[in-house]
Amino acid sequence: MASFPALEQPLNPFPQYEAMRRSDPVFQDPVTGAWHVFGYQDVQRVLSDHAAFSSRFGGDNPTETGQLFAASLINTDPPRHRQLRSLVAQAFTPRAVEALAPRISALTAELLDPLVPAGSTDLIEQLAYPLPVIVIAELMGIPAEDRDRFKQWSDAIVSQSPEAGEDHSSGNREMAEYFLAMIEQRRHRPGDDLISSLLKAEIDGQKLSIMELLGFCTLLLVAGNETTTNLIGNAVLCFTDEPGTAERLAEEPELLPQAIEEVLRYRSPVQSMYRVAAVDTELHGRPIPAGSPIVAWIGSANRDGHQFPHPDQFDVGRSPNRHLAFGQGIHFCLGAPLARLEAKIALQAVLSRLPGLALEPGARLERMDSTIVFGVKNLPVCWQPA
Ligand code: HEM
Repeated sequence: MASFPALEQPLNPFPQYEAMRRSDPVFQDPVTGAWHVFGYQDVQRVLSDHAAFSSRFGGDNPTETGQLFAASLINTDPPRHRQLRSLVAQAFTPRAVEALAPRISALTAELLDPLVPAGSTDLIEQLAYPLPVIVIAELMGIPAEDRDRFKQWSDAIVSQSPEAGEDHSSGNREMAEYFLAMIEQRRHRPGDDLISSLLKAEIDGQKLSIMELLGFCTLLLVAGNETTTNLIGNAVLCFTDEPGTAERLAEEPELLPQAIEEVLRYRSPVQSMYRVAAVDTELHGRPIPAGSPIVAWIGSANRDGHQFPHPDQFDVGRSPNRHLAFGQGIHFCLGAPLARLEAKIALQAVLSRLPGLALEPGARLERMDSTIVFGVKNLPVCWQPA
């Protein structure tokens, strides 16, 4: 294989991952020089061994998006990482998130009510996209009328990768200016929102820098939006693939949390994460020099037959299911409780209110423009309206 990823089937990269696990489980791309890692154990190690694999993948000279993230926790190593993470952690504990359940249910009902009589819709456009955006926007205290701009910015960001080097500067600048204005506004008029509490927060008596605040906003915008959208969309794909699955889950909603974990494994919304080798190290017997960029293929690890029996089978009741969809170790997804809760509420409503849910016959699905984030652009579905 010359260069990875050259996805032959964007919506089904799994056979290609499997081929890589067999032939080149740790593969250096001769074109970019980046190392690609495919097996469960190696991916787990790359994600969690922060001493050997740094998250500062832009180094001291990051790309423009890298710069936006540079000061945020996803892009820092200890000890700074722990300090930054502790600032936002309270907002995302399972208990804090559980308090959002009534609001998420109300929003889901608001979005679904007008759709139910129609019998068909694009579920991404009408539910899976707007729901997480509204939730994160409300947490950050962003006005409702600005939500559409969120979508454009986060789409633009996920379609870039640290290797791509394309110029997305105008969108990034617009987003940075927007958040800077929002931060200034909150500085003068604090509210009961995440941006206001970050402004108040201090580490060792020091306030966060403006770049750190901007990094948080950008990270939450991207992390909180596309990923959860795709979890909901990918779940509908999984539940409608096999006849009877949607019906079974509608009748036994207590199976849903486990089914959602299986969606996270089987169609992982985040397929890959980046690191850079902090020291000379070794993976699967191959020497990796310090400074090497590394791509850990979560989507491949989650289909590794050494970890998961019958990995290409979607098994609603799979247990144990130690998937890596939310990462592993100190960078484990901060938003996991929120994503799980939103998905559970949204999917339970979809299954109970849209009986006979199926993919629209002849639907042509297209993957989102990203090799990192995995999901469909549109999801045309139909059901039997009451
Ligand atoms: C299904 C939905 C989601 C998936 C699959 C997902 C996946 C991930 C993954 C794989 C990481 C680890 C990154 C790494 O190791 O470098 C991560 C980190 C993170 N996620 Fe999520 N995420 C989701 C939803 C969310 C939501 C809803 C939020 C916030 C509202 C969020 C916020 C974050 C943050 C802040 C980090 C960085 C944590 C750190 O570096 O300490 N995520 N996510």
